[in-house]
Amino acid sequence: MHNEHNSRLEFLITGGAGFIGSALVRHIINDTDYSVVNVDKLTYAGHLASLTSVENNPRYVFEKFDICDALELKRVFDQHQPDIVMHLAAESHVDRSIAGPADFIQTNIVGTYNLLEQSRVY
Ligand SMILES: NC(=O)c1ccc[n+]([C@@H]2O[C@H](COP(=O)([O-])OP(=O)(O)OC[C@H]3O[C@@H](n4cnc5c(N)ncnc54)[C@H](O)[C@@H]3O)[C@@H](O)[C@H]2O)c1
Repeated sequence: MHNEHNSRLEFLITGGAGFIGSALVRHIINDTDYSVVNVDKLTYAGHLASLTSVENNPRYVFEKFDICDALELKRVFDQHQPDIVMHLAAESHVDRSIAGPADFIQTNIVGTYNLLEQSRVY
């Protein structure tokens, strides 16, 4: 962990353009000295408008891709060397899981597995 001797922790946050993730990103950037890399593929649920207060901050980086992409996740771990991972990317609306369960299996199961596996490797 490259940052363990200073206060500038690097957070890797998935789903940072969503309801909870965007509030978390805004809090970390606006209320602390920590840094954030936000991984979000911007589904219908992701809104960059929620992040205008942080988008130009040098401690904030946005990476637009799907957490099912293990190679991209590995690249982000290697490039940003995060100290803390917080996983908020999800298919989160129950009604949609009844109408179309495939996206839920991909993001919530395969994507979560990818994130855990790349965290372990890192
Ligand atoms: N909102 C609540 O009240 C609540 C309560 C308890 C738990 N949770 C849980 O917290 C988590 C986040 O909830 P939320 O309300 O912020 O969800 P949300 O639907 O508002 O946001 C999800 C975010 O994940 C992104 N995303 C979806 N699939 C992705 C993928 N494959 N790769 C990258 N990004 C992807 C979307 O673009 C979006 O920005 C979920 O696991 C949810 O179940 C939410």
